[in-house]
Amino acid sequence: MQRQAQRWQRDGVRIVLVPTMGALHAGHASLIRRARKAAGKNGIVVVSIYVNPTQFNDAKDLRAYPRPMAADKKLCRAEGVDVVFAPKSLYEKDASTVIDETAVSLGMEGESRSGHFQGVATVVVKLCNLVQPTAAIFGEKDWQQAALIRRVARDLNLPARIIVAPTMREADGLACSSRNVHLNKSERQQATALWQAIATARATVRKGALRGLKRRLILSIENQPAAQVDYVEFFDEQTMQPVNPKKGTRMALAVYVGKTRLIDNGRL
Ligand code: PAJ
Repeated sequence: MQRQAQRWQRDGVRIVLVPTMGALHAGHASLIRRARKAAGKNGIVVVSIYVNPTQFNDAKDLRAYPRPMAADKKLCRAEGVDVVFAPKSLYEKDASTVIDETAVSLGMEGESRSGHFQGVATVVVKLCNLVQPTAAIFGEKDWQQAALIRRVARDLNLPARIIVAPTMREADGLACSSRNVHLNKSERQQATALWQAIATARATVRKGALRGLKRRLILSIENQPAAQVDYVEFFDEQTMQPVNPKKGTRMALAVYVGKTRLIDNGRL
């Protein structure tokens, strides 16, 4: 991959990378379309598919992660992807170098999933070294991840431009996610509680009745019998520091629906 990328680089071909873990859905497809726009019709769009073991803090979650490679390749072909980069393994057995970001990755997902963002940052830098992209596309769906990648790219002078694309949702507001396939019919209905909580918070900051907002949101989500809130957080979009909710603040939440952990976020 790296040798081929260097050839393209030498010939002045623009390379745009969409890093994924596969089980591709409409959200990934929208990133691919954004990548094509950035690459131009003569550029190369690379989709990497790699279920990165180092970012899973839960062995069961890693084992259960869906891997429908044939369907993924089909989607990539239909979306006009030039290269699917699907390495079997990316790590030496005794690999001992990691990327540790120490500010934006601390709260929320970083707190709930120990080691997760170290795995994400390390694999994204590895993928950038292999694919040598001019630009790399990430989804707003994982806001904290995107903030982390922006920070790592800035601090370590990655040559790739980091582009963050909006969240694709199902008709009822549920954010598309590879994990949605784990939801049974009842859980799938209850999963709309995440998006409803963001909509409620957005309406509330416009009315100004902010007292106890977080508690009220948690209660309304957990009104769904299968839902259990991991966190609801309001934070500054740039610094990722927790702030009191107001217009322009971002809200993120993580909720277990049954055994499936879902995340979402939106600007208030
Ligand atoms: P994965 O969950 O496969 O997501 C790949 C990219 O798709 C991420 O940038 C994610 O934010 C984006 N994405 C997911 N759901 C989306 C949606 N509904 N709308 C728009 N974009 C969406 O995130 C990862 O993989 C990994 O951590 C990775 C960055 C590949 C590193 O291993």
